Amino acid sequence: MKRRVIGILGLGTMGGAIADGLLGSTEPYHLLATRRTARPAAESPGAIEYVATNGELAERSDIIVLSVKPYQAEAVVGEIAPQLAGKMLISILAAIEAADIAAWAPGCRVVRVMPNTPCLIGAGMTVIARGLRPDPEGIALAEELFAPLGRTAVVDEALMDAVTGLSGCGPAYVFLIVEALSEAGVKLGIDRATATLLAAQTLMGGARMVLERGEHPAKLKDEVTTPAGCTVDALMVLEDGRLRSTLIGAVVAAAERSKSLRKR
Ligand SMILES: NC(=O)c1ccc[n+]([C@@H]2O[C@H](COP(=O)([O-])OP(=O)(O)OC[C@H]3O[C@@H](n4cnc5c(N)ncnc54)[C@H](OP(=O)(O)O)[C@@H]3O)[C@@H](O)[C@H]2O)c1
Repeated sequence: MKRRVIGILGLGTMGGAIADGLLGSTEPYHLLATRRTARPAAESPGAIEYVATNGELAERSDIIVLSVKPYQAEAVVGEIAPQLAGKMLISILAAIEAADIAAWAPGCRVVRVMPNTPCLIGAGMTVIARGLRPDPEGIALAEELFAPLGRTAVVDEALMDAVTGLSGCGPAYVFLIVEALSEAGVKLGIDRATATLLAAQTLMGGARMVLERGEHPAKLKDEVTTPAGCTVDALMVLEDGRLRSTLIGAVVAAAERSKSLRKR
């Protein structure tokens, strides 16, 4: 069977996470990549092959994953529009609509997705946009590519700023929370490595219970909150610190920022 060629246009943080996730999946993809300044093929990272130009990448790839910064996209896509005609492009860009990219590269089929960095270890969350003119085949292809990298969901494209604020940027919030919980352990005398393990594993365990039991998180919280016990005292401190409204405000701020990037 012919190995499918995936071209990562912009092998940065997120492009690299997707590349590593794809290499870790059972599908035997051949991966090509470019960066802003062309890298010699001899410097290719591991099983990924650097190619000299974005045009060559587009020509040789079955699927192109566009992973440059949003402000770089129009120039990059416009430059290789002829090579993109008839190709499938998956955009991971915040803020930029699939229709914009399709207008910059007429004849190119565009699917918009919002992944996150845990794709690197097969624990990503990738949300696929359902555009105004839905493309079931394109959505199925994106699902096939990203499902082995974690979980996938499909939403209307109008919700992609919200998705960016929640799961796209979300790993940063989680790292901050783990860091803070770990700091609490250190404050109480636990060594930092153990404290970080306790914090991260507890977060992962709680998240997995939500996903696997399918119950409302408030019910799971009630189950671990003994009347007059320790947990309820901690919850009171979190309520005083407005943890819930702070997190809601953070996600809304990131979504607003994503929306504003489109207007510039
Ligand atoms: N980071 C995340 O957690 C995350 C999550 C979801 C979606 N995204 C989206 O992913 C995209 C990339 O974000 P990032 O954080 O990965 O940024 P990044 O690390 O700066 O990666 C951008 C990459 O694009 C390359 N590039 C720039 N201009 C290019 C050109 N003309 N030709 C080829 N490559 C070019 C850069 O090359 P150099 O390395 O040579 O500069 C860099 O490797 C953004 O649109 C963002 O909205 C990011």
